[in-house]
Amino acid sequence: MNVMVIAAHPDFHQSRANKALIQELKKHADMDIHVRDLYLEYPDWQIEVEKEQRMLLQYDRIVLQFPFYWYSCPPLLKKWFDDVLTFGWAFGPGGKKLLGKEFMIATTTGGTEACYRSGGENMYTISELLRPIERTLTKCNGTFLPAFVMYNVMQATDTELAHAAEKYAEVIKAPREALTH
Ligand SMILES: Cc1cc2nc3c(=O)[nH]c(=O)nc-3n(C[C@H](O)[C@H](O)[C@H](O)COP(=O)(O)O)c2cc1C
Repeated sequence: MNVMVIAAHPDFHQSRANKALIQELKKHADMDIHVRDLYLEYPDWQIEVEKEQRMLLQYDRIVLQFPFYWYSCPPLLKKWFDDVLTFGWAFGPGGKKLLGKEFMIATTTGGTEACYRSGGENMYTISELLRPIERTLTKCNGTFLPAFVMYNVMQATDTELAHAAEKYAEVIKAPREALTH
């Protein structure tokens, strides 16, 4: 199984958590993981739709990695969905190109895990808040895997971030059955 990780962080230089995740993945370059930085690739936000669609076809699993911003993804990744998941290609009549692809969200939050529950400060679980992205990808015939979430990252030590990153490298390569049972 090969994996494409599309990281979308508007300010990667200032990042601790997402940077720790990416640095760990780069150690696993031999593992068929292709890591990309969307903001670096498209500083002008002019997404190359055909190139993106071609790359999607080349990978079995696509991981979308981002810091959780206002209960959603950063805007360039939203634009990537808008531009790349086209009618007749990703959905609609004849739009079955992503059938069989696995998608996983990997996100980092400022909020603690306890905030993200019914009755908690953020009222909803991360799974509930990720529903619009989940439905976007399932409408495009993708399989939506459980998200990898790092909570409370501002309080995390470098060692904790490094441990979480090691777990991340395992999770994104784990077979679907191991993730969904
Ligand atoms: C514009 C903005 C919006 C944010 N919205 C949320 C949010 O909705 N929920 C949350 O838990 N954290 C939120 N945060 C905190 C980020 O998730 C946190 O800074 C990020 O995960 C840290 O990752 P990094 O070290 O890779 O930058 C927000 C931060 C910014 C700058």
